[in-house]
Amino acid sequence: MSGPHISRTIADLRTELKGWRQQGLSVAMVPTMGALHEGHLSLMREALSRADRCIVSIFVNPTQFAPTEDLDKYPRQLEHDIERLREVGVHLAFTPSPDEVYPKGFATKIIVGGPSAGLETDFRPHFFEGVATVVTKLFQQATPDCAVFGEKDYQQLCVVRQMCRDLDIPVEIVGAPTVRDEHGLAMSSRNAYLDEAQLAIARRLNVILRGASAAISGGADPAAETASASLALLDAGFKTIDYVAARECGSLGPWRPETEGRLLAAAWLGSTRLIDNVEIAARS
Ligand code: PAF
Repeated sequence: MSGPHISRTIADLRTELKGWRQQGLSVAMVPTMGALHEGHLSLMREALSRADRCIVSIFVNPTQFAPTEDLDKYPRQLEHDIERLREVGVHLAFTPSPDEVYPKGFATKIIVGGPSAGLETDFRPHFFEGVATVVTKLFQQATPDCAVFGEKDYQQLCVVRQMCRDLDIPVEIVGAPTVRDEHGLAMSSRNAYLDEAQLAIARRLNVILRGASAAISGGADPAAETASASLALLDAGFKTIDYVAARECGSLGPWRPETEGRLLAAAWLGSTRLIDNVEIAARS
């Protein structure tokens, strides 16, 4: 199959979209920062199953990185990524430059409340402003009917849903399950930073979270369980634990035993920060 059409500008993207819309075709979008792995490909397959055409944006968004973070070293491999899109059957790759997205004089920020409070925001206060701003722009540019986001970035998924609800953005937000390797490690572009020894430690993250989640649903005190999960992560070899927290699905308020929840964590291995989350079943 031939590769995706590549749009580097908003004008070119809109020309392609106009043709599709004139034919009455529906459009699904998967926003990414590239360095595509199996997790991203599963989002694309989900998108392809929901619409006639699938757009994948590949844009390493500078506004969601703090000056101290890994913007410069974030993996960029456009040719490889385009080949993956071709394999999956994606129709269009939108690969704008930073100047195309943030032209000189750009001065607007989208700030979302609700589920953006705490967790990632406590450690990366700039992050959701950057994500919300770029996702709003991507939705304005591509005007998709639906967009697929991974549950791996669960707080991001909740923030994007909240934003679309609050701002009447007519894009259906679809959450897709986390793709894991055979040891349960969540696929992430940042796994590429890990050496073999660190990978072995990283694979403990989901095991420890699943154990704590089962204990919490089974009646254990959430505060005690999250504290002991943090200790277990340190014992396993993680350097610093930013958080392990039990939250209610959607709102990300404190978990209540009668509701479905998520156990979310962020932890450092060397200079790499990993995040993951697992479900917490409501107590019966
Ligand atoms: O999840 C990501 O890769 C990014 O945060 C996103 C949604 C593409 C916005 O830059």
